[in-house]
Amino acid sequence: MSYRKAFIASNALMLAAFVWAFAKDFNAEWKPYQKKYYQMAADEMDKQAAAEKDGKKAAELKAAARKMRRSPLEVKQIISVDLGRYDRCVTCHVGMDEYTNTTLKNTFTEHPYKAHPKVDTALIKAHPFNKFGCTSCHSGQGLATTVDGAHGWIKHWEKPMLKGVTIQGSCVKCHDNFESIKGAEVAAQGKKLFNQHGCQGCHAINGKGGVISVELGDISDKPFERIAGYNFKRVRIDGKELPDEHHNSHWNIQNWIRAHLVNDPAEVTPNDPFAKLNAEPIPPSGMPDFTKEISKDEADAIVAYLSGMTKEEVIPYRYHVTAPPAKEPALTGAAHGKFVYQKYGCQGCHGLDAKQGRRRFNALADGQKEYDEKMPEAEQFAQMMLGAEPTLPKLMGTYTHEELVRKIENGVSAADAKKWSPKGPMPMVYMPAWKGKISKAELDDLATWLLSIGVKDDSGF
Ligand code: HEC
Ligand code: HEC
Ligand code: HEC
Ligand code: HEC
Ligand code: HEC
Repeated sequence: MSYRKAFIASNALMLAAFVWAFAKDFNAEWKPYQKKYYQMAADEMDKQAAAEKDGKKAAELKAAARKMRRSPLEVKQIISVDLGRYDRCVTCHVGMDEYTNTTLKNTFTEHPYKAHPKVDTALIKAHPFNKFGCTSCHSGQGLATTVDGAHGWIKHWEKPMLKGVTIQGSCVKCHDNFESIKGAEVAAQGKKLFNQHGCQGCHAINGKGGVISVELGDISDKPFERIAGYNFKRVRIDGKELPDEHHNSHWNIQNWIRAHLVNDPAEVTPNDPFAKLNAEPIPPSGMPDFTKEISKDEADAIVAYLSGMTKEEVIPYRYHVTAPPAKEPALTGAAHGKFVYQKYGCQGCHGLDAKQGRRRFNALADGQKEYDEKMPEAEQFAQMMLGAEPTLPKLMGTYTHEELVRKIENGVSAADAKKWSPKGPMPMVYMPAWKGKISKAELDDLATWLLSIGVKDDSGF
């Protein structure tokens, strides 16, 4: 091909690319929304003008309606330099621009035309949108101008929009005082539930808590690749499989967290207990089944709280609202001991009020059948699922105060666990050593409380 032909061909290509880009912009998804908004707003003004008795005011309204109709269609953007946000949400959610353009008021009832809900006037006043943008609270993709793109329901966008109450996770990011502010009640309830049920016995948040499982202080940064595909296929919400379509509005970290609370985690992360795919058996999730203890609404509250757990989003110091550390109640003796039990999350494994040990896969426990290798696999699995942490009150008769303190300080290593099936996996949940984590005074009161709830064993042992 001659240079001349190549030149013509490349020019033609460039023209095609230009026409394509122009057509794409011409057909931009956001344009009809913005256009319709201006039409609706202008119609509204015309209606008001028709009803207006004062001729001068009516003329003004009509002129304003004409101007509104002629508004140029353009990408609108709120820039929050401090928070590094370039949010184009108001390109479609034009009705929300009333916070940057205060003369605009609307009564539309449909997204994206409505005004921002006045969650609480104080909330809106405290976070002017021109300073905070939208994604600092909502997440999503600020720069995008398509519905799915902006709401973050696309591939490779790791921070999809927070929906419903989970938006309260955003308050947690900035507000150390989130437990006492208006508008973050659900996230505050989530934190309370987290501690009440002993999640901190196994999971640390920012280094505080157990080491049995993952640190949750950055759980909302967990990449899709680590939860999608293999694992997400087992996620059930309301008993239903999620649509098999990656990165849609369902495949997000919120549903992954929720899945651990509204399902038995052993079904979400079943692993390989009979070593079918691996050289060694791997037990299913060591996380207890909370479905009978935690309601769906409560699960949502925990999801809201954990949605604020991020290390990737750096909040500038000025945007951080600090709070003094919470005061502990003034308790002594056994009452304080019970408080200590709950504070450190012993109930995560030994159950609420220490009444019943929670599941410990393949540990030897009361009520199991004798191991028999001829037993069908399903039955073996059921027996392994009966493994549990010890029910503490039953064992308290065997300890002196000092021995009990030492036991709690030293823990029991995983290698010392007694297995039900010798071929099955080692129980992954073990008794952590609490030495250095719990103060001596706390340990003393803890032992006092545990000994006080000890029950006499009638079997004669
Ligand atoms: C291209 C237009 C467009 C852009 C850009 C856009 N939205 Fe939307 N938004 C919509 C439409 C249309 C709806 C209603 C239908 C729906 O939910 O998909 C909506 C609904 C919503 C809802 C309600 C969702 C629900 O399920 O109740 C929220 C919240 C929201 N948008 C926030 C945002 C935020 C935050 C941004 C910026 C990151 C944004 N939107 C950018 C068009 C847009
Ligand atoms: C200070 C945090 C904050 C900021 C900043 C913020 N919002 Fe909201 N937004 C909320 C809260 C809280 C709700 C109420 C959620 C609920 O109760 O369902 C809400 C609700 C909404 C809804 C309605 C959702 C529904 O289900 O009806 C939309 C749409 C929305 N916001 C868009 C925006 C847009 C666009 C911006 C930026 C111009 C923005 N928000 C800025 C906190 C914020
Ligand atoms: C990007 C950080 C950021 C996010 C996200 C955020 N806030 Fe704020 N908030 C602030 C700052 C900064 C102030 C101003 C504090 C001051 O003036 O002392 C504030 C003030 C407030 C106030 C009034 C002052 C007070 O402390 O009582 C309330 C109420 C409030 N926020 C609630 C919320 C709620 C509810 C959410 C979640 C929906 C939220 N905030 C999300 C940073 C944030
Ligand atoms: C007995 C220990 C234990 C307790 C108590 C426990 N978990 Fe877990 N959790 C685990 C283990 C082990 C895993 C990892 C395997 C899996 O994904 O199921 C896990 C996984 C998770 C995950 C997914 C983490 C990730 O990175 O994918 C979340 C979220 C979670 N737990 C939340 C909770 C909450 C909330 C509670 C309290 C209601 C709780 N856990 C109580 C042991 C525990
Ligand atoms: C991550 C789960 C987990 C947490 C959290 C946990 N334990 Fe344990 N605990 C176990 C397991 C498993 C055993 C049984 C160890 C063994 O014998 O193999 C055990 C055993 C014990 C025993 C000995 C019982 C016996 O067999 O005589 C005591 C006492 C005890 N735990 C108290 C506590 C106290 C107090 C706390 C809170 C400070 C606590 N545990 C937190 C899992 C846990």
